[in-house]
Amino acid sequence: MDTLIRMPKEKEYEEIVAVINSQIEREKKFFTEDEYEENFPKITIEDLKRERGKRYHLVVEENGKIVAHASYYIKMNNILWLSQIVVLPKYQNKGIARKLLIHIEKEARSKKIKALALETQKVFDWAVNFYKKQNYIVLSSEDFKKEPFAGTLDNNPVESTYIFGKIL
Ligand SMILES: CC(C)(COP(=O)(O)OP(=O)(O)OC[C@H]1O[C@@H](n2cnc3c(N)ncnc32)[C@H](O)[C@@H]1OP(=O)(O)O)[C@@H](O)C(=O)NCCC(=O)NCCS
Repeated sequence: MDTLIRMPKEKEYEEIVAVINSQIEREKKFFTEDEYEENFPKITIEDLKRERGKRYHLVVEENGKIVAHASYYIKMNNILWLSQIVVLPKYQNKGIARKLLIHIEKEARSKKIKALALETQKVFDWAVNFYKKQNYIVLSSEDFKKEPFAGTLDNNPVESTYIFGKIL
């Protein structure tokens, strides 16, 4: 299969939004309607336009179709914060997210980034398993007091999520 990891074009934002929102049904099951709406606002094309220049976006293209998307930014403490990585349901479990993550880690190394970090819901076991498999570890409050993760969090961690990290 012809797989390409690249930056998206603006005309592809609609396709990206469809990829991001393709997880709604799977995620919703763990929350009440109100909780879900509050914590997982539906992403729109306007959101992507607004974020331009603030975040890096990458897509995975397979035979001309966008099948995965990731976004990240670099924090003040030189940590790469992975905001999101999503693969269309039909294309999951084929190693696409792993390839995308390895690509992001390579980019991070080339930018002299010290480590990656991200937040995921504890109940999203597919994501928890995925990051563990890629050698990410659940960060503790002790980790946030020391290098390289000191200064990563803007707010106190919440009980319902894990913050994963990997030192490069
Ligand atoms: C998490 C996610 C990005 C993984 O994408 P993917 O392309 O299916 O992952 P890969 O095929 O690269 O999987 C790599 C490894 O992760 C593990 N993994 C992936 N999906 C899994 C699942 N549903 N259940 C258990 N383990 C899983 C597998 O063990 C796999 O290892 P293997 O190849 O040795 O079996 C995908 O499930 C997804 O888009 N989920 C919804 C969005 C989300 O939760 N994103 C993460 C939080 S930001």
